[in-house]
Amino acid sequence: MHSAFRTPALTLTARPTREIDVDLLVIPVFRDDELADEPELDRASGGEFTRARERGAFSGKAYETLVTSTTSAGWKTPRAALIGAGPRAEFTADVMRRIAIVGGLVARERRLVRVAVLGRADALTPMVAAQVMAEGASLSNYDGGSWKTTGQPVSWLESVELRIAGAPAGSLEAVERGRTLGECTNQARAMANAPGNELTPRMFAERATTIATTAGLAVEVLDEQQMAALKMGLLLGVARGSQEPPRLIVLRHEPPQAPPGVVLGLVGKGITFDTGGISIKPADHMERMKDDMSGGAAVICAMAAIARLGVPVRCVGIVPMTENMPGGRALKPGDVLTSASGKTVEILNTDAEGRLVLGDGVWYARERGATHLVDVATLTGACVVALGKTTSGLFGTPSAWVEHVRRASERAGDRSWPMPVFDDYKELFKSDIADFTNTGGRAGGAITGALFIKEFTGDLPWVHMDIAGTAWAEEATPYQPKGATGVGVRTLVELASDAASWMGTATRS
Ligand code: BES
Ligand code: MN
Ligand code: ZN
Repeated sequence: MHSAFRTPALTLTARPTREIDVDLLVIPVFRDDELADEPELDRASGGEFTRARERGAFSGKAYETLVTSTTSAGWKTPRAALIGAGPRAEFTADVMRRIAIVGGLVARERRLVRVAVLGRADALTPMVAAQVMAEGASLSNYDGGSWKTTGQPVSWLESVELRIAGAPAGSLEAVERGRTLGECTNQARAMANAPGNELTPRMFAERATTIATTAGLAVEVLDEQQMAALKMGLLLGVARGSQEPPRLIVLRHEPPQAPPGVVLGLVGKGITFDTGGISIKPADHMERMKDDMSGGAAVICAMAAIARLGVPVRCVGIVPMTENMPGGRALKPGDVLTSASGKTVEILNTDAEGRLVLGDGVWYARERGATHLVDVATLTGACVVALGKTTSGLFGTPSAWVEHVRRASERAGDRSWPMPVFDDYKELFKSDIADFTNTGGRAGGAITGALFIKEFTGDLPWVHMDIAGTAWAEEATPYQPKGATGVGVRTLVELASDAASWMGTATRS
């Protein structure tokens, strides 16, 4: 069984708790809750809930879990998973989304297939609650995959009923939206989890083509001859070390009702495996570099969601795809490359390959009409040092554009935070012989990486999202299994959906 996901049947229910008939009830419980909303729960659990609280086995701390039987009061569902929701005052849509994920994962661990999630809409509008609960339900039905030839098959959720207080008629649409966002995030996770030998640039392009065509996007795949005709020296330079030919995918979403003059350009790093090239990486943990196309997967899957949701703004998605390998014809330190934009780059470290392929990628997004740019990339270890593994770095200009992306990421449950892009840092990657080099050394490494990409953005509003820390979960949490996270997908969809508010964002200062 390779990496996969299924979307459970998602429905809304308004039934009282005791009438819901599934395998597992998922009930969020605030730390400061007296269970006023579920007065019967303690009786149903035969007092187990109160006893657990008394002995400190369950406090309502965020994502803590207590599974208890509910047969004492004759409820139709035989058991409940109480999921800690943290302090009531700190409850957000993201907490609700994660609770739905935890509930789904708890059910799957126990091989239970029919689940109901009881919303605590308290601080959320019913529409937001419906969306994030549906997102959570589908996100929980993901499996990172196994190539083991023995062992039990994975258990999948079949159905999830969502109960949301005061859910209006429009909430089914919100459920649909959540389903799409969850599915497309899972799709991106599946690609990032795929081993490098099962996702070469050609296979990546093929998979992306299927996903995009199914979603109704226009798709073009450029091969190395077409790249040469466009003079994409940076992308072709990185690809030289590999036996596998590079690809560049172009996805277009052109809804008829879109406002003219606005094209959101999304560019994703698509390195299907990063050995570092001639500046080769150490062996330890190099296997993780199969996920170096996470930004590309995020762009492809966000574009698919944007098309499926009929978001009324034109978008173009660009993903340069190649391996970074140390072959006999590989790029060498000291080589000078000419980019499609005409700027020249002295290569000091072949492991700084992401900015190279993005340089040509961002240039091409402009060629294809982008008016607003966002690139997403597992770009630098330095960003992981700066922000850790739960927050992506945001770099860009003007700051109003950065702020739109930041807010979109917050709504999406993808944490991110702005970093500076002062011109002073450009000193760090000046070259004696070319327009600039491809590395700026250790100090400010995430910023110089971003500023390199900025060289190719023309005058367009641009944001670079460094997801090196956030694309991959080294450790499992209650809401995120080990492996690919799908970070960025929902941020980009939220951003596109919010176009009315940023359309006027002026050319940068
Ligand atoms: N793909 C890596 C960045 C990365 C590192 C992602 C760790 C995820 C986890 C990127 O291509 C890279 O190698 N960056 C170098 C840049 C340096 C040579 C200037 C880095 O961060 O060390
Ligand atoms: Mn690298
Ligand atoms: Zn890389």
